[in-house]
Amino acid sequence: MQAFIENLPKAELHLHIEGSLEPSLMFKIARRNNINIPYKSVEEVEKAYQFNCLQDFLDIYYQSAHVLVTQQDFYELTYHYLQNCAIQNVRHAEIMFDPQTHTNRGVSFETVITGISKACKDAQEKLNISTILIMSFLRHLSEEEAFKTLNDSLPYKAKITAVGLDSSEIGNPPSKFKNVYAACVEEGYIPMAHAGEEGSSEYVWEAIDVLGIKRIDHGNNALQDKNLIKEIINRDLALTVCPLSNIALNVVDDLKNHPLKKMMELGLKVTINSDDPAYFGGNINKNYIEIQKALQLTKEDIYQLAKNSFQYSLLDNAKKQYFLNELEKYYTQTKEKQLEF
Ligand code: HPA
Ligand code: ZN
Repeated sequence: MQAFIENLPKAELHLHIEGSLEPSLMFKIARRNNINIPYKSVEEVEKAYQFNCLQDFLDIYYQSAHVLVTQQDFYELTYHYLQNCAIQNVRHAEIMFDPQTHTNRGVSFETVITGISKACKDAQEKLNISTILIMSFLRHLSEEEAFKTLNDSLPYKAKITAVGLDSSEIGNPPSKFKNVYAACVEEGYIPMAHAGEEGSSEYVWEAIDVLGIKRIDHGNNALQDKNLIKEIINRDLALTVCPLSNIALNVVDDLKNHPLKKMMELGLKVTINSDDPAYFGGNINKNYIEIQKALQLTKEDIYQLAKNSFQYSLLDNAKKQYFLNELEKYYTQTKEKQLEF
């Protein structure tokens, strides 16, 4: 089963590029930029990565992102993630980035987007991985600040497909960003948002009704409301589920109690993702492997999850079909050969 998962063609749809900053790369970039970090060794960093809730994590995540200053830093961060994608047979990645984490400390929007998008271009050419960028607003900041970020992004519109909403959920409901989301849609960005990670099902309702999102990041707490579940299914919205993140942030107490299988049985379209792999103990394949073991998922289930990852990506239909064919070929071949995975 492990080899079946490792070789499975898949897409990652919920990934914060700042959350892929591994301690070793953080040290390297900090040294290069002469920036002090409050850790002496990789072991010390790993010890610090113990969280009780989302906010515990965010405090450390924003602090670590301070080492990122130059275009080269953003390039290396992104290319490093995409090299890991190649190893894991991630064929397509939809990458979130948080411009405000950087522009608020004087790093220009141009530096961030240019470094990230150059890495994406090189990954397409050298690693044959396709990417899409999602610009995410920090929800603990004001709507006015999100408007400023939207304006900053306009010269680079061709490089960005969608917008997202992340950071501290409770107390910052989706409706706070109603106007800026309407403006984003006017500009042609596809609306997405984190909802129902720590926030209640009400936040998910707002995200779909007020912001009109096309995909739900996390969405765990949607299960609290039967009518909401029905509505999500009716609108054919997918949930980007992040099992190891849910454990690390105490959204779920134990992988054995993770609602992923229940979601699938209810008819919800779900995908498996790593969220912030450098912080939550594993990349996308580890997320697949651990949740498969905990919930006794079958190969068929795993195949369905990978299928969803392409089906509910933001790729155009021709590209979706290309990857779905690749996946189907892989699945039928492993079955025909009856390989003992
Ligand atoms: N939730 C909210 N904000 C985030 C996350 C998350 O899981 N990861 C990075 N920013
Ligand atoms: Zn996330």
